[in-house]
Amino acid sequence: MAMASQALVSSTFANVNSAKDVSFSSAFSPSSLRCNDAMPRMTVSRGIRVASCAVESLEKEKTSYATKVTRNANFAKLQAGYLFPEIGRRRAAHIAKYPDAKVISLGIGDTTEPIPSVIAEGMKAKAQALSTLEGYSGYGAEQGEGSLRAALQKFYLKLHPDTGVKASEVFVSDGAKCDIARLQMMFGADVTIAVQDPSYPAYVDSSVMMGQTGGYEADSQQYNKIHYMKCTPENDFFPDLASAPRTDIIFFCSPNNPTGATATKKQLEELVAFAKKNGSIIVYDAAYSIYISDDSPKTIYEIPGAREVAIEISSFSKFAGFTGVRLGWTVVPEELLYADGFPVIKDFNRVMTTSFNGASNIAQAGGLACLSDDGWKAMEELVAFYKKNVEIIVEAVTSVGLTTYGGKNAPYVWVHFPGQSSWDVFAKILEEAHIVTTPGSGFGPGGEGFVRISAFGHRENIVEAAERLKKLFG
Ligand SMILES: Cc1ncc(COP(=O)(O)O)c(C=O)c1O
Repeated sequence: MAMASQALVSSTFANVNSAKDVSFSSAFSPSSLRCNDAMPRMTVSRGIRVASCAVESLEKEKTSYATKVTRNANFAKLQAGYLFPEIGRRRAAHIAKYPDAKVISLGIGDTTEPIPSVIAEGMKAKAQALSTLEGYSGYGAEQGEGSLRAALQKFYLKLHPDTGVKASEVFVSDGAKCDIARLQMMFGADVTIAVQDPSYPAYVDSSVMMGQTGGYEADSQQYNKIHYMKCTPENDFFPDLASAPRTDIIFFCSPNNPTGATATKKQLEELVAFAKKNGSIIVYDAAYSIYISDDSPKTIYEIPGAREVAIEISSFSKFAGFTGVRLGWTVVPEELLYADGFPVIKDFNRVMTTSFNGASNIAQAGGLACLSDDGWKAMEELVAFYKKNVEIIVEAVTSVGLTTYGGKNAPYVWVHFPGQSSWDVFAKILEEAHIVTTPGSGFGPGGEGFVRISAFGHRENIVEAAERLKKLFG
Protein backbone atom coordinates (compact mmCIF):
# COMPACT_ATOMS: atom_id res chain seq x y z
CA MET A 1 0.00 0.00 0.00
CA ALA A 2 1.20 3.49 -0.76
CA MET A 3 2.00 5.53 2.31
CA ALA A 4 0.35 8.95 2.34
CA SER A 5 2.72 11.53 3.66
CA GLN A 6 1.65 14.98 4.77
CA ALA A 7 3.03 18.13 3.22
CA LEU A 8 2.37 21.79 3.65
CA VAL A 9 1.30 23.41 0.45
CA SER A 10 0.75 27.13 0.22
CA SER A 11 -2.76 28.27 -0.48
CA THR A 12 -1.86 29.34 -3.97
CA PHE A 13 -1.26 25.75 -4.86
CA ALA A 14 -3.85 24.18 -2.58
CA ASN A 15 -6.51 26.27 -4.22
CA VAL A 16 -5.72 25.99 -7.90
CA ASN A 17 -8.35 23.44 -8.72
CA SER A 18 -11.13 25.46 -7.19
CA ALA A 19 -10.35 28.39 -9.52
CA LYS A 20 -11.59 30.47 -6.62
CA ASP A 21 -10.26 33.90 -5.81
CA VAL A 22 -7.99 34.11 -2.81
CA SER A 23 -6.98 37.63 -2.06
CA PHE A 24 -3.76 38.08 -0.16
CA SER A 25 -4.81 41.45 1.14
CA SER A 26 -5.35 42.23 4.80
CA ALA A 27 -8.99 41.42 4.21
CA PHE A 28 -8.03 37.81 3.57
CA SER A 29 -9.91 35.45 5.77
CA PRO A 30 -8.79 31.90 6.48
CA SER A 31 -12.32 30.66 5.94
CA SER A 32 -12.17 31.78 2.31
CA LEU A 33 -9.56 29.13 1.60
CA ARG A 34 -10.63 25.57 0.94
CA CYS A 35 -8.66 23.07 3.01
CA ASN A 36 -11.01 20.15 2.75
CA ASP A 37 -12.29 19.88 6.31
CA ALA A 38 -9.42 21.56 8.09
CA MET A 39 -8.85 25.25 8.76
CA PRO A 40 -5.79 26.62 7.01
CA ARG A 41 -2.71 27.47 9.04
CA MET A 42 -1.89 31.19 9.00
CA THR A 43 1.70 32.40 8.88
CA VAL A 44 3.24 35.76 8.02
CA SER A 45 5.63 36.07 5.11
CA ARG A 46 7.12 39.44 4.12
CA GLY A 47 4.35 41.17 6.05
CA ILE A 48 1.67 39.26 4.20
CA ARG A 49 -0.56 36.70 5.82
CA VAL A 50 -0.22 33.39 4.07
CA ALA A 51 -2.66 30.55 4.49
CA SER A 52 -1.47 26.98 4.19
CA CYS A 53 -3.32 23.71 4.01
CA ALA A 54 -2.12 20.37 5.20
CA VAL A 55 -2.87 18.21 2.22
CA GLU A 56 -1.95 14.73 1.27
CA SER A 57 1.23 14.83 -0.73
CA LEU A 58 0.79 14.00 -4.36
CA GLU A 59 4.19 12.37 -4.10
CA LYS A 60 2.77 9.09 -2.98
CA GLU A 61 4.88 6.03 -3.14
CA LYS A 62 4.75 4.65 -6.65
CA THR A 63 2.75 1.46 -6.94
CA SER A 64 2.72 -1.05 -9.73
CA TYR A 65 -0.85 -2.02 -9.03
CA ALA A 66 -3.47 -1.00 -11.59
CA THR A 67 -7.09 -2.03 -11.92
CA LYS A 68 -8.33 -3.90 -14.96
CA VAL A 69 -10.63 -1.03 -15.92
CA THR A 70 -9.98 0.51 -19.31
CA ARG A 71 -9.92 4.28 -19.34
CA ASN A 72 -12.76 5.90 -21.28
CA ALA A 73 -10.94 6.71 -24.52
CA ASN A 74 -12.98 9.88 -25.02
CA PHE A 75 -11.35 11.42 -21.97
CA ALA A 76 -7.94 10.87 -23.50
CA LYS A 77 -9.01 13.12 -26.39
CA LEU A 78 -9.56 16.12 -24.11
CA GLN A 79 -6.92 18.81 -24.42
CA ALA A 80 -5.09 19.93 -21.28
CA GLY A 81 -7.39 20.89 -18.46
CA TYR A 82 -10.65 22.73 -18.59
CA LEU A 83 -9.85 26.37 -19.42
CA PHE A 84 -10.56 27.97 -16.07
CA PRO A 85 -8.52 25.60 -13.88
CA GLU A 86 -5.62 26.28 -16.27
CA ILE A 87 -6.04 30.00 -15.72
CA GLY A 88 -6.23 29.31 -11.99
CA ARG A 89 -2.89 27.51 -12.22
CA ARG A 90 -1.26 30.43 -14.03
CA ARG A 91 -2.73 32.87 -11.54
CA ALA A 92 -1.39 30.79 -8.67
CA ALA A 93 2.07 30.65 -10.21
CA HIS A 94 1.98 34.43 -10.67
CA ILE A 95 1.05 35.00 -7.04
CA ALA A 96 3.87 32.70 -5.98
CA LYS A 97 6.26 34.74 -8.13
CA TYR A 98 4.96 38.12 -6.94
CA PRO A 99 3.59 37.55 -3.44
CA ASP A 100 3.36 41.31 -2.80
CA ALA A 101 1.38 42.12 -5.93
CA LYS A 102 -2.30 42.92 -5.74
CA VAL A 103 -3.64 40.61 -8.39
CA ILE A 104 -7.01 41.58 -9.84
CA SER A 105 -9.04 38.70 -11.23
CA LEU A 106 -11.15 39.53 -14.24
CA GLY A 107 -10.72 36.09 -15.73
CA ILE A 108 -13.21 33.44 -14.70
CA GLY A 109 -16.70 34.90 -15.00
CA ASP A 110 -17.58 34.58 -11.34
CA THR A 111 -19.84 37.12 -9.69
CA THR A 112 -18.43 39.20 -6.84
CA GLU A 113 -21.22 41.28 -5.33
CA PRO A 114 -23.38 40.05 -2.46
CA ILE A 115 -26.74 38.45 -3.12
CA PRO A 116 -29.42 41.12 -2.56
CA SER A 117 -30.84 40.80 0.94
CA VAL A 118 -34.43 40.44 -0.26
CA ILE A 119 -33.31 37.26 -2.03
CA ALA A 120 -31.10 36.00 0.79
CA GLU A 121 -34.04 36.50 3.17
CA GLY A 122 -36.09 34.05 1.10
CA MET A 123 -33.40 31.41 1.57
CA LYS A 124 -33.03 32.25 5.25
CA ALA A 125 -36.74 31.80 5.87
CA LYS A 126 -36.66 28.44 4.08
CA ALA A 127 -33.60 27.29 6.03
CA GLN A 128 -35.31 28.20 9.29
CA ALA A 129 -38.54 26.50 8.27
CA LEU A 130 -36.57 23.32 7.70
CA SER A 131 -35.79 23.26 11.42
CA THR A 132 -39.48 22.97 12.28
CA LEU A 133 -41.85 20.02 12.07
CA GLU A 134 -44.30 21.98 9.94
CA GLY A 135 -41.71 23.44 7.62
CA TYR A 136 -39.47 20.43 7.10
CA SER A 137 -39.37 18.80 3.69
CA GLY A 138 -37.03 16.18 2.27
CA TYR A 139 -36.64 15.18 -1.35
CA GLY A 140 -38.66 17.36 -3.65
CA ALA A 141 -39.83 16.78 -7.20
CA GLU A 142 -36.87 16.14 -9.51
CA GLN A 143 -38.33 18.67 -11.95
CA GLY A 144 -38.46 21.43 -9.33
CA GLU A 145 -41.07 22.85 -6.99
CA GLY A 146 -44.38 23.70 -8.60
CA SER A 147 -44.31 27.26 -7.27
CA LEU A 148 -40.92 27.96 -8.87
CA ARG A 149 -41.86 26.34 -12.17
CA ALA A 150 -45.00 28.52 -12.22
CA ALA A 151 -42.93 31.61 -11.40
CA LEU A 152 -40.57 30.78 -14.27
CA GLN A 153 -43.55 30.43 -16.60
CA LYS A 154 -44.56 33.96 -15.53
CA PHE A 155 -40.98 35.10 -16.09
CA TYR A 156 -41.23 33.99 -19.73
CA LEU A 157 -44.58 35.69 -20.07
CA LYS A 158 -42.97 38.88 -18.81
CA LEU A 159 -40.14 38.57 -21.34
CA HIS A 160 -42.54 38.19 -24.23
CA PRO A 161 -46.29 37.50 -24.40
CA ASP A 162 -45.98 34.79 -27.07
CA THR A 163 -43.32 32.41 -25.73
CA GLY A 164 -45.94 29.78 -24.86
CA VAL A 165 -43.72 28.31 -22.11
CA LYS A 166 -45.70 26.12 -19.71
CA ALA A 167 -44.72 25.41 -16.11
CA SER A 168 -44.66 21.69 -16.92
CA GLU A 169 -41.98 22.33 -19.57
CA VAL A 170 -39.60 23.98 -17.07
CA PHE A 171 -37.05 21.73 -15.32
CA VAL A 172 -35.40 23.42 -12.34
CA SER A 173 -31.80 22.34 -11.79
CA ASP A 174 -28.53 22.99 -10.02
CA GLY A 175 -27.26 25.14 -12.89
CA ALA A 176 -26.91 25.51 -16.62
CA LYS A 177 -23.53 23.79 -16.82
CA CYS A 178 -24.95 20.66 -15.21
CA ASP A 179 -27.90 20.79 -17.61
CA ILE A 180 -25.54 20.94 -20.58
CA ALA A 181 -23.98 17.67 -19.39
CA ARG A 182 -27.40 16.08 -18.78
CA LEU A 183 -28.61 17.12 -22.23
CA GLN A 184 -25.52 15.51 -23.72
CA MET A 185 -26.29 12.33 -21.80
CA MET A 186 -29.72 12.39 -23.39
CA PHE A 187 -28.43 13.04 -26.91
CA GLY A 188 -25.92 10.20 -26.69
CA ALA A 189 -22.75 9.50 -28.61
CA ASP A 190 -24.14 9.39 -32.12
CA VAL A 191 -25.27 12.97 -32.68
CA THR A 192 -23.32 15.60 -34.55
CA ILE A 193 -22.96 19.05 -33.03
CA ALA A 194 -22.19 22.62 -34.05
CA VAL A 195 -20.93 25.36 -31.78
CA GLN A 196 -20.28 29.05 -32.16
CA ASP A 197 -16.54 29.63 -32.38
CA PRO A 198 -15.59 30.98 -29.88
CA SER A 199 -17.96 29.53 -27.30
CA TYR A 200 -18.37 28.53 -23.66
CA PRO A 201 -16.07 25.47 -23.36
CA ALA A 202 -18.62 23.15 -21.69
CA TYR A 203 -20.41 22.47 -25.00
CA VAL A 204 -17.32 21.14 -26.76
CA ASP A 205 -15.79 19.33 -23.79
CA SER A 206 -19.04 17.56 -22.84
CA SER A 207 -19.41 16.53 -26.47
CA VAL A 208 -15.90 15.03 -26.43
CA MET A 209 -16.60 13.18 -23.18
CA MET A 210 -19.79 11.72 -24.65
CA GLY A 211 -17.90 10.35 -27.63
CA GLN A 212 -19.60 12.54 -30.21
CA THR A 213 -16.27 13.68 -31.65
CA GLY A 214 -13.15 12.35 -33.24
CA GLY A 215 -9.69 13.31 -32.06
CA TYR A 216 -8.23 16.76 -31.60
CA GLU A 217 -6.34 18.27 -34.49
CA ALA A 218 -3.50 20.45 -33.33
CA ASP A 219 -3.30 22.38 -36.62
CA SER A 220 -6.88 23.54 -36.68
CA GLN A 221 -7.25 23.39 -32.87
CA GLN A 222 -10.54 21.66 -33.47
CA TYR A 223 -12.04 18.29 -32.65
CA ASN A 224 -13.05 16.20 -35.61
CA LYS A 225 -16.77 15.91 -36.20
CA ILE A 226 -17.65 19.16 -34.40
CA HIS A 227 -18.66 21.98 -36.69
CA TYR A 228 -17.19 25.26 -35.47
CA MET A 229 -19.29 28.21 -36.65
CA LYS A 230 -16.90 31.12 -36.86
CA CYS A 231 -18.15 34.27 -35.11
CA THR A 232 -15.92 37.26 -35.78
CA PRO A 233 -16.25 41.02 -36.21
CA GLU A 234 -16.40 40.37 -39.99
CA ASN A 235 -19.73 38.52 -39.70
CA ASP A 236 -21.00 40.59 -36.79
CA PHE A 237 -20.42 37.54 -34.55
CA PHE A 238 -23.27 35.68 -36.22
CA PRO A 239 -22.33 32.51 -38.13
CA ASP A 240 -22.63 32.17 -41.86
CA LEU A 241 -25.46 29.65 -41.87
CA ALA A 242 -25.59 29.53 -45.66
CA SER A 243 -22.26 27.68 -45.66
CA ALA A 244 -22.86 25.67 -42.47
CA PRO A 245 -23.45 21.93 -42.75
CA ARG A 246 -26.39 20.19 -41.13
CA THR A 247 -25.76 18.92 -37.60
CA ASP A 248 -28.18 17.28 -35.18
CA ILE A 249 -27.53 19.73 -32.37
CA ILE A 250 -26.63 23.42 -32.52
CA PHE A 251 -25.35 25.02 -29.31
CA PHE A 252 -26.06 28.73 -29.46
CA CYS A 253 -25.43 31.26 -26.70
CA SER A 254 -26.82 34.82 -26.68
CA PRO A 255 -25.65 37.10 -25.18
CA ASN A 256 -22.56 35.17 -25.97
CA ASN A 257 -19.86 34.11 -23.61
CA PRO A 258 -17.11 35.11 -24.42
CA THR A 259 -17.76 37.68 -27.17
CA GLY A 260 -20.66 39.47 -25.48
CA ALA A 261 -22.39 39.57 -28.88
CA THR A 262 -26.18 39.37 -28.81
CA ALA A 263 -28.18 37.98 -31.70
CA THR A 264 -30.92 40.18 -33.14
CA LYS A 265 -34.46 38.99 -33.76
CA LYS A 266 -33.73 38.71 -37.46
CA GLN A 267 -30.63 36.60 -36.83
CA LEU A 268 -32.51 34.29 -34.48
CA GLU A 269 -35.29 33.93 -37.04
CA GLU A 270 -32.60 32.83 -39.46
CA LEU A 271 -31.22 30.37 -36.92
CA VAL A 272 -34.63 28.84 -36.21
CA ALA A 273 -35.38 28.58 -39.95
CA PHE A 274 -31.98 26.91 -40.46
CA ALA A 275 -32.68 24.37 -37.68
CA LYS A 276 -36.14 23.70 -39.05
CA LYS A 277 -34.88 23.19 -42.59
CA ASN A 278 -32.28 20.69 -41.33
CA GLY A 279 -34.37 19.05 -38.63
CA SER A 280 -31.84 20.08 -35.97
CA ILE A 281 -32.27 20.84 -32.28
CA ILE A 282 -30.96 24.17 -30.98
CA VAL A 283 -29.69 24.24 -27.39
CA TYR A 284 -30.08 27.93 -26.67
CA ASP A 285 -28.06 29.20 -23.71
CA ALA A 286 -29.69 32.32 -22.25
CA ALA A 287 -27.59 32.50 -19.07
CA TYR A 288 -26.95 36.23 -19.65
CA SER A 289 -30.36 37.31 -20.98
CA ILE A 290 -30.94 39.68 -18.07
CA TYR A 291 -28.03 41.81 -19.34
CA ILE A 292 -29.90 42.64 -22.56
CA SER A 293 -30.99 46.24 -22.56
CA ASP A 294 -31.87 46.75 -26.22
CA ASP A 295 -34.63 45.03 -28.17
CA SER A 296 -32.67 41.80 -28.85
CA PRO A 297 -34.71 38.73 -27.88
CA LYS A 298 -34.25 37.59 -24.28
CA THR A 299 -35.45 34.09 -25.07
CA ILE A 300 -35.41 31.94 -28.20
CA TYR A 301 -39.15 31.39 -27.71
CA GLU A 302 -39.77 34.95 -28.87
CA ILE A 303 -39.12 33.53 -32.33
CA PRO A 304 -42.16 31.91 -33.97
CA GLY A 305 -41.52 28.19 -34.56
CA ALA A 306 -38.78 27.94 -31.92
CA ARG A 307 -40.86 25.62 -29.77
CA GLU A 308 -40.49 22.91 -32.44
CA VAL A 309 -36.70 23.11 -32.60
CA ALA A 310 -35.25 24.63 -29.43
CA ILE A 311 -34.38 23.76 -25.86
CA GLU A 312 -33.46 26.74 -23.68
CA ILE A 313 -31.11 26.62 -20.70
CA SER A 314 -30.67 29.43 -18.23
CA SER A 315 -29.48 30.16 -14.74
CA PHE A 316 -29.74 32.40 -11.69
CA SER A 317 -25.92 32.43 -11.49
CA LYS A 318 -25.34 35.68 -13.35
CA PHE A 319 -28.81 37.08 -12.65
CA ALA A 320 -28.46 37.13 -8.88
CA GLY A 321 -24.96 36.03 -7.89
CA PHE A 322 -26.06 32.39 -7.48
CA THR A 323 -22.80 30.94 -8.81
CA GLY A 324 -22.29 29.33 -5.40
CA VAL A 325 -25.94 28.82 -4.47
CA ARG A 326 -26.49 26.80 -7.69
CA LEU A 327 -29.85 27.16 -9.41
CA GLY A 328 -30.76 27.05 -13.07
CA TRP A 329 -33.40 25.68 -15.37
CA THR A 330 -34.05 24.10 -18.75
CA VAL A 331 -37.15 24.45 -20.90
CA VAL A 332 -38.10 21.57 -23.19
CA PRO A 333 -41.25 22.39 -25.19
CA GLU A 334 -43.83 19.65 -25.75
CA GLU A 335 -43.71 20.28 -29.50
CA LEU A 336 -40.02 19.28 -29.74
CA LEU A 337 -39.97 15.77 -31.23
CA TYR A 338 -37.35 13.23 -32.27
CA ALA A 339 -37.32 11.85 -35.82
CA ASP A 340 -39.67 9.04 -34.77
CA GLY A 341 -42.14 11.53 -33.28
CA PHE A 342 -41.20 10.76 -29.66
CA PRO A 343 -41.34 13.89 -27.43
CA VAL A 344 -37.90 15.04 -26.27
CA ILE A 345 -39.44 16.28 -23.01
CA LYS A 346 -40.22 12.69 -21.99
CA ASP A 347 -36.60 11.65 -22.32
CA PHE A 348 -35.38 14.75 -20.52
CA ASN A 349 -37.80 14.01 -17.72
CA ARG A 350 -36.31 10.52 -17.58
CA VAL A 351 -32.79 11.95 -17.39
CA MET A 352 -33.76 14.29 -14.57
CA THR A 353 -35.57 11.66 -12.56
CA THR A 354 -32.73 9.17 -12.99
CA SER A 355 -29.63 11.32 -12.58
CA PHE A 356 -30.83 14.28 -10.55
CA ASN A 357 -32.70 14.46 -7.27
CA GLY A 358 -34.08 17.97 -7.41
CA ALA A 359 -32.41 21.32 -6.77
CA SER A 360 -31.76 22.33 -3.17
CA ASN A 361 -35.01 23.45 -1.59
CA ILE A 362 -33.21 26.44 -0.03
CA ALA A 363 -31.86 27.49 -3.42
CA GLN A 364 -35.35 27.15 -4.89
CA ALA A 365 -36.70 29.47 -2.19
CA GLY A 366 -34.01 31.89 -3.33
CA GLY A 367 -35.16 31.47 -6.93
CA LEU A 368 -38.72 32.31 -5.94
CA ALA A 369 -37.46 35.40 -4.13
CA CYS A 370 -35.51 36.41 -7.26
CA LEU A 371 -38.70 36.30 -9.29
CA SER A 372 -40.76 38.36 -6.82
CA ASP A 373 -41.24 42.04 -7.72
CA ASP A 374 -38.69 43.18 -5.13
CA GLY A 375 -36.28 40.39 -6.10
CA TRP A 376 -36.49 41.34 -9.76
CA LYS A 377 -35.79 44.98 -8.94
CA ALA A 378 -32.78 43.95 -6.85
CA MET A 379 -31.43 41.77 -9.68
CA GLU A 380 -31.78 44.66 -12.11
CA GLU A 381 -29.76 46.86 -9.76
CA LEU A 382 -27.08 44.19 -9.49
CA VAL A 383 -26.90 43.85 -13.25
CA ALA A 384 -26.74 47.65 -13.61
CA PHE A 385 -23.75 47.65 -11.26
CA TYR A 386 -21.85 45.16 -13.41
CA LYS A 387 -22.81 47.02 -16.56
CA LYS A 388 -21.31 50.21 -15.11
CA ASN A 389 -18.13 48.15 -14.60
CA VAL A 390 -18.29 47.24 -18.28
CA GLU A 391 -18.45 50.93 -19.22
CA ILE A 392 -15.37 51.68 -17.10
CA ILE A 393 -13.37 48.89 -18.74
CA VAL A 394 -14.51 49.78 -22.27
CA GLU A 395 -13.72 53.45 -21.72
CA ALA A 396 -10.21 52.60 -20.49
CA VAL A 397 -9.21 50.20 -23.23
CA THR A 398 -10.72 52.18 -26.08
CA SER A 399 -9.01 55.34 -24.79
CA VAL A 400 -5.65 53.69 -25.57
CA GLY A 401 -6.72 52.70 -29.05
CA LEU A 402 -7.83 49.11 -28.54
CA THR A 403 -10.98 47.85 -30.22
CA THR A 404 -13.60 46.15 -28.08
CA TYR A 405 -16.76 44.17 -28.80
CA GLY A 406 -19.55 42.93 -26.59
CA GLY A 407 -20.18 44.66 -23.31
CA LYS A 408 -23.40 46.33 -24.37
CA ASN A 409 -25.71 43.46 -23.41
CA ALA A 410 -23.25 41.30 -21.49
CA PRO A 411 -20.82 41.39 -18.57
CA TYR A 412 -17.88 40.59 -20.86
CA VAL A 413 -15.64 42.86 -22.92
CA TRP A 414 -14.02 41.18 -25.92
CA VAL A 415 -10.79 43.04 -26.66
CA HIS A 416 -9.09 42.67 -30.02
CA PHE A 417 -5.33 42.29 -30.34
CA PRO A 418 -5.04 41.63 -34.08
CA GLY A 419 -2.19 39.37 -35.07
CA GLN A 420 -1.19 38.56 -31.50
CA SER A 421 -1.52 35.31 -29.61
CA SER A 422 -4.24 35.40 -26.96
CA TRP A 423 -2.10 33.51 -24.46
CA ASP A 424 0.80 35.96 -25.06
CA VAL A 425 -1.47 38.94 -24.40
CA PHE A 426 -2.95 37.16 -21.37
CA ALA A 427 0.62 36.57 -20.08
CA LYS A 428 1.65 40.19 -20.72
CA ILE A 429 -1.36 41.61 -18.88
CA LEU A 430 -0.76 39.24 -15.97
CA GLU A 431 2.99 39.83 -15.83
CA GLU A 432 2.94 43.61 -16.23
CA ALA A 433 -0.41 44.69 -14.80
CA HIS A 434 -1.14 41.81 -12.40
CA ILE A 435 -4.58 41.38 -13.95
CA VAL A 436 -6.02 37.96 -14.75
CA THR A 437 -8.04 37.94 -17.97
CA THR A 438 -9.08 35.03 -20.19
CA PRO A 439 -7.28 34.29 -23.46
CA GLY A 440 -9.78 34.23 -26.29
CA SER A 441 -8.30 31.10 -27.86
CA GLY A 442 -9.37 29.17 -24.76
CA PHE A 443 -12.90 29.43 -26.13
CA GLY A 444 -11.99 27.97 -29.50
CA PRO A 445 -9.70 28.82 -32.40
CA GLY A 446 -11.99 31.68 -33.42
CA GLY A 447 -11.03 33.46 -30.20
CA GLU A 448 -7.37 33.75 -31.20
CA GLY A 449 -6.23 37.36 -31.13
CA PHE A 450 -8.77 38.32 -28.46
CA VAL A 451 -8.82 38.54 -24.69
CA ARG A 452 -11.98 38.45 -22.60
CA ILE A 453 -12.20 40.85 -19.69
CA SER A 454 -14.92 40.08 -17.18
CA ALA A 455 -16.78 42.97 -15.57
CA PHE A 456 -17.56 40.93 -12.48
CA GLY A 457 -15.54 42.73 -9.83
CA HIS A 458 -15.72 45.14 -6.92
CA ARG A 459 -15.85 48.71 -8.21
CA GLU A 460 -12.49 49.72 -6.73
CA ASN A 461 -10.82 46.75 -8.42
CA ILE A 462 -12.42 47.56 -11.75
CA VAL A 463 -11.32 51.20 -11.51
CA GLU A 464 -7.79 50.14 -10.60
CA ALA A 465 -7.67 47.53 -13.36
CA ALA A 466 -8.84 50.15 -15.85
CA GLU A 467 -6.02 52.46 -14.79
CA ARG A 468 -3.44 49.68 -15.05
CA LEU A 469 -4.67 48.70 -18.52
CA LYS A 470 -4.46 52.31 -19.69
CA LYS A 471 -0.90 52.51 -18.43
CA LEU A 472 0.06 49.19 -19.96
CA PHE A 473 -1.29 49.87 -23.43
CA GLY A 474 -1.21 53.68 -23.49
C1 LIG B 1 -22.76 30.66 -21.32
C2 LIG B 1 -22.79 30.02 -19.99
N1 LIG B 1 -23.63 29.00 -19.78
C3 LIG B 1 -23.68 28.39 -18.60
C4 LIG B 1 -22.86 28.78 -17.57
C5 LIG B 1 -22.90 28.03 -16.27
O1 LIG B 1 -23.94 28.46 -15.49
P1 LIG B 1 -24.26 27.78 -14.10
O2 LIG B 1 -23.52 28.54 -13.06
O3 LIG B 1 -25.74 27.90 -13.97
O4 LIG B 1 -23.83 26.36 -14.17
C6 LIG B 1 -21.97 29.81 -17.74
C7 LIG B 1 -21.09 30.22 -16.65
O5 LIG B 1 -20.18 30.98 -16.76
C8 LIG B 1 -21.94 30.45 -18.99
O6 LIG B 1 -21.09 31.45 -19.23
